[in-house]
Amino acid sequence: MARPRVLSGIQPTADSFHLGNYLGAVRQWVTMQETHDAFYCVVDLHAITVPTEPDALRRRSRVAAAQLFAAGLDPERSTVFVQSHVREHTELAWVLICLTGMGEAGRMTQFKDKSAKFGESAASVGLFTYPILQAADILLYQANLVPVGADQKQHLELTRDLGQRFNHRFGDTFTLPDPYILKEVEKITDLQDPTAKMSKSSSSPAGILDVLEQPGPLRKKVMRAVTDTGSEVLFDEAGKPGISNLLRIQSALTGTPIPELVARYEGQGYGTFKKDVAEAVEQTFAPIRERTEKLLADEKELDRMLAIGAERASAVAKETMAQVRDRVGFLPKL
Ligand code: TYM
Repeated sequence: MARPRVLSGIQPTADSFHLGNYLGAVRQWVTMQETHDAFYCVVDLHAITVPTEPDALRRRSRVAAAQLFAAGLDPERSTVFVQSHVREHTELAWVLICLTGMGEAGRMTQFKDKSAKFGESAASVGLFTYPILQAADILLYQANLVPVGADQKQHLELTRDLGQRFNHRFGDTFTLPDPYILKEVEKITDLQDPTAKMSKSSSSPAGILDVLEQPGPLRKKVMRAVTDTGSEVLFDEAGKPGISNLLRIQSALTGTPIPELVARYEGQGYGTFKKDVAEAVEQTFAPIRERTEKLLADEKELDRMLAIGAERASAVAKETMAQVRDRVGFLPKL
């Protein structure tokens, strides 16, 4: 029997992924390539929904792809590609845009948050349609599962709604995907503001742990992470959000259950615990950073790997899009 298909994407909007991206998404991508038919894309079309410098976009797209391979995606087992290389994403997005209600798109909370930052009238229409392009990314590949962090839940609900609407109106075409969200790591929070999501667009540098960062600064940030009053290492989401976030991180990085960690640090205070968290972060990031640097040193080879990914992705995307064109009623081009 064919393996179930998985698809996910990540934006090339920063010079490094951060710990939230890694634990909330990329690590699951690596595991799932063992059991699923895996498609992962660097979503550069999404990146331009906010003002973006062309050189920065090129650099960050390569850095993103290199980090994915460095984190363990195997080009033999996973189809890793750049979204803009497969033209069908924008083509399907248009069809889905025409099936989406203005009110429906306006309810997307990420749009509301991001447009509040720019001012509603300065925000681009692209930002407004962002979740519909994401739905196209997923539906195009007939994905069964989409591994993401909690912040993507609403976009996945929209994806299912749009897939279902299309199927209903034009006949069964799309697989309806399920989100794959691991509760323990679905929302890694900002080290300086532990009730907010760690985020490349809104966290301060001190609140983010970047995968490509050097050990020194990483260690400093963990040691300076906002902790809570008291000195006991306890998991208490409401009363101790800072320590709880660090416990979640430490547990995910070392595979030790949280209660075991709590028992281990009993009576030891925050300092020892934080030192161990810093160590676990460094040990996870160092090999990824080194492999990323190696991959980036040979851009030609990296671009070649992405071309192979794009070719494999295109084959699937073309097949879905041919069906969509026919069902919608576009004339065949002879
Ligand atoms: P992006 O680039 O913002 O983030 C990539 C992935 O990282 C997850 N994530 C987190 N998980 C836990 N804690 C955090 N603090 C944290 N911050 C980020 C995100 O949930 C995401 O899974 N819209 C998507 C990109 C996208 C996509 C797609 C995803 C475009 N097309 C198709 C899935 C399928 C985004 O902005 O991801």
